[in-house]
Amino acid sequence: MLNGKKVLFSGMQATGNLTLGNYLGALKNWVNLCEEYECFYSVVDLHSITVRQDPTILRQRARKLLMIYIAAGIDPEKNCLYYQSHVSGHAELAWILNCFTYMGELNRMTQFKDKAAKHADNINAGLFTYPVLMAADILLYQADVVPVGIDQMQHLELTRDIAQRFNGVYGDVFTVPEAYIGKVGAKIMSLQDPAKKMSKSDENPHASIYLMDDPDTIMRKCKRAVTDSEGQILYREEQPGIRNLIDIYSACTGKRPEEVVKEFDGKGYGDFKTAVGEAVVSVLKPLQARYEELNKDKTYIDGIIKANAEKASYTATKTLRKVQRKVGFPDRVR
Ligand code: TYM
Repeated sequence: MLNGKKVLFSGMQATGNLTLGNYLGALKNWVNLCEEYECFYSVVDLHSITVRQDPTILRQRARKLLMIYIAAGIDPEKNCLYYQSHVSGHAELAWILNCFTYMGELNRMTQFKDKAAKHADNINAGLFTYPVLMAADILLYQADVVPVGIDQMQHLELTRDIAQRFNGVYGDVFTVPEAYIGKVGAKIMSLQDPAKKMSKSDENPHASIYLMDDPDTIMRKCKRAVTDSEGQILYREEQPGIRNLIDIYSACTGKRPEEVVKEFDGKGYGDFKTAVGEAVVSVLKPLQARYEELNKDKTYIDGIIKANAEKASYTATKTLRKVQRKVGFPDRVR
């Protein structure tokens, strides 16, 4: 608990361009949670360097991501939006937790296996221990809930295991967090291959809708989306392409998948794809406009970066000091 509220933590990588999957699976659900929770949303730049980055581009993207958080409707006065690299406690706690995590556990992480296959020339130790850093992010703030898409569930399970293991040795140090998965949109699939998740790193530009895509591009991508030859708009596993478009439409409009099926009963795929495109445009257009506004106000954004880094550090340091005492590091001499 913090300030009488439960704590919520989540983060996103500033790597690549954000996709509609990131938005519908995570960001969209973050808005308004601050009424119920004390919320921390980090731009997780320490995670980003597990894959080689151009420093200038990483810095630009990190700032852009922070502004996208705000543009999506997350109030930076009521939520703590900050860069992970500005709070040294993340790396410090990650080291300690590394000593409470088994190689066998990390070897089982599917994201590690996927990324190692993709970046065979750079399978660095950071890529392997990435989930431990993620556990440190969450546990540092004593988070009760972590809103993420389904692809992060395995990492969250590991976080819970690490927290319980640590608590088992030292008493109740960490809050054991729960995942918070949105009802729709928790797994948005590629528009070109509905068996794969929509991903920032997909090489096929038609596979993903990016948050900054213009309306024409969005419409084109939706119209080109791979479907099937069934000719009926039904929400079922046998039609993964259509099912994915229903998920997207549903997440953008707030209608339930059953309602969407009814709405498009007897209609063709062409009409449906146009409606999906329009629904996406209507969600992304205001976000893009707000982003452009924010981008003009450097002083305002800088102020937020500074204030929130201090706020995050304060909470993080409290947990870190407690953990350091528990494991037996000497007290600081004042
Ligand atoms: P990242 O940056 O890959 O993704 C950010 C968020 O977007 C969700 N997401 C999706 N949701 C639905 N459909 C998709 N196709 C899709 N693609 C991505 C992800 O589930 C995530 O919620 N390791 C994390 C970042 C992280 C983090 C944390 C998250 C670091 N520390 C602590 C929560 C708590 C990651 O790489 O997410």
